[in-house]
Amino acid sequence: MVEIKKKTDCVSWDDIRKLIFFAHESNRKNGVDIRNAHLSAGELKTCVGEDGICLVALDGTKLVGTCSVAFENLDCWYAKGMCAYFTLDAVSPDYKGKGIFSQLEKKRLETVLQLCVNTAFMYVAEKNVVRRRIAKKHGFTPVEIRYNPFNSHNFIVYCKYFNDKRLTFRLYARCRFIAQWLKLKTKQWVKKIL
Ligand SMILES: CC(C)(COP(=O)(O)OP(=O)(O)OC[C@H]1O[C@@H](n2cnc3c(N)ncnc32)[C@H](O)[C@@H]1OP(=O)(O)O)[C@@H](O)C(=O)NCCC(=O)NCCS
Repeated sequence: MVEIKKKTDCVSWDDIRKLIFFAHESNRKNGVDIRNAHLSAGELKTCVGEDGICLVALDGTKLVGTCSVAFENLDCWYAKGMCAYFTLDAVSPDYKGKGIFSQLEKKRLETVLQLCVNTAFMYVAEKNVVRRRIAKKHGFTPVEIRYNPFNSHNFIVYCKYFNDKRLTFRLYARCRFIAQWLKLKTKQWVKKIL
């Protein structure tokens, strides 16, 4: 039986680091090597921050999954003010596909809903189809696509709006994303051909 709870000192940041590194093996095989998979234990702690929350999934005493939320002040067209940044999602390779991340995400969303934030956001590599599917299932809207020259892949910014009144805004964001996606893809296709 897997238990989901807030990280305590029983789990070290180095355990989290190892878990994230091994969880990302599937992405590396798919040509996506993201920076978070190579952060040191200290950098992970800093990334979550003093106000942030790190959740862990434990099978007995064994760490099998994690996810975090950090808080950031945004001033973009798609989000303004204090927002919840969903990051450092990982499930141990031998525990994947058993619903562990779904439990972690449910707990993270419940935790954030109790706080005064209207928006959650995250970055997902375009090639990370599994994570993108999960984002969609949990009501995240893709709002921006950007190219990361450091690891040569596209990543998508996803937002989840907790205020239901923003339906028209979500539709606007969707249209803007499609237009931006087409522009970026055209630019990349043309570059490939020339
Ligand atoms: C993304 C990740 C955290 C998902 O963890 P998980 O515990 O395997 O996910 P779950 O078992 O809770 O599955 C959640 C959903 O994804 C689907 N899913 C999981 N793995 C899948 C796969 N390989 N292919 C297709 N769908 C998959 C499940 O069917 C489920 O959908 P459902 O609720 O409609 O049935 C895990 O695959 C992982 O650690 N990936 C590497 C790290 C990573 O990419 N992190 C995100 C960085 S942005």
